[in-house]
Amino acid sequence: MQPFDSSHRTRLIFGEGKLELLGQLARSLRAQSALIVSDQGILEAGHHDRAEKSLTEAGIQVSCFHDFGENPTSSMIEAGVRHAAQVKPDLLIGLGGGSSMDCCKGINFVYSCGGSIHDYHGSGKATAPMLPMIAIPTTAGTGSEAQSYALISDAKTHTKMACGDPRAAATIALLDPLLTLTQPFSVTVLTGIDAISHAVETRVSTRSNAMSVTYSQRAFGMLGKGFDRVIKEPSDIEARSMLQLGAYFAGLAIENSMLGAAHATANPLTARYGITHGQAVGVMLPNVVRMNAANCSEAYTQLVREYAPETPVESAAQTLVSTITKWLEQAKLATSLSDLAIPADSLDLLTSDALEQWTGNFNPITLSQANVKALYESTLNNEGGTVSG
Ligand SMILES: [Fe+2]
Repeated sequence: MQPFDSSHRTRLIFGEGKLELLGQLARSLRAQSALIVSDQGILEAGHHDRAEKSLTEAGIQVSCFHDFGENPTSSMIEAGVRHAAQVKPDLLIGLGGGSSMDCCKGINFVYSCGGSIHDYHGSGKATAPMLPMIAIPTTAGTGSEAQSYALISDAKTHTKMACGDPRAAATIALLDPLLTLTQPFSVTVLTGIDAISHAVETRVSTRSNAMSVTYSQRAFGMLGKGFDRVIKEPSDIEARSMLQLGAYFAGLAIENSMLGAAHATANPLTARYGITHGQAVGVMLPNVVRMNAANCSEAYTQLVREYAPETPVESAAQTLVSTITKWLEQAKLATSLSDLAIPADSLDLLTSDALEQWTGNFNPITLSQANVKALYESTLNNEGGTVSG
């Protein structure tokens, strides 16, 4: 059995309307001055004002940082640290999608420990205690609220740096499914597919273990059933709750395991062609499952049965592939690279980029030039094909 070392660093609070507890929670952390890190979209949705009101009513001074984009960069972190140096917060609040929470963690690293965000690229590089952080996700996708890592891009090279330390994990994750109701359809489905891919990839990662498998399994069932319902009825709060908790559990699965080939092959599509993360992972995932099925038929069977309990072993991997493809089609997302205008002559370049992705090292089938190129080739025109194993 695979050994593990798992620690619950984050207090998890879940429930409709729980955002109102924010001021009270901040006081419980003895905060006097809070810095809210949230993107512009959150301002427009009104979530920021409600968070600020709850904090102000609790007697806490509030300042805000909004100057960052979808993939926070090292220069955005520097701007946030300059802002923090002026207002001297004793609590950070990441309010929004993965970008807001990652930006908040990045600011925390540099503000608390000095230097630049590059100093924290890797694992366990924090040099001092960090400020307490409350993570409040408004999407159901990355699971950043469950993790001790932040993804920050180098402002010049656009290389993504995973910066992680147990001290960077949120002190409290506040999950209020009402906050996810304001997402546009496209954000709901893109983040939902990303979360589903986290459940699928962590389930079969070479680092998977008894803890991560528990989270992957439960996440997949909740995400799958929630996704089916939210596509039909976006205001279905029970479905939104399933997606939000499912994304959290999938985030915990990543924290306790690793991802795999779908993320390794998706990242170059984002870096080279600007394909949104959820779309890039989603387009690659069915063929990654087809490939991995040779080694993972039992794990895939257990996983898919969380969603469709009667699925026979012999057809489980195929059911998983067709279910993911069904979700992509219902979400109106592309199911082939040609749909995304990826040129056929770029596959060699994408292959060499994918083989440099750290996350690919944990795929259950060892990645090679030949099998990664084959993954891209079979996804180019969505040829599909049979499932091995
Ligand atoms: Fe992802």
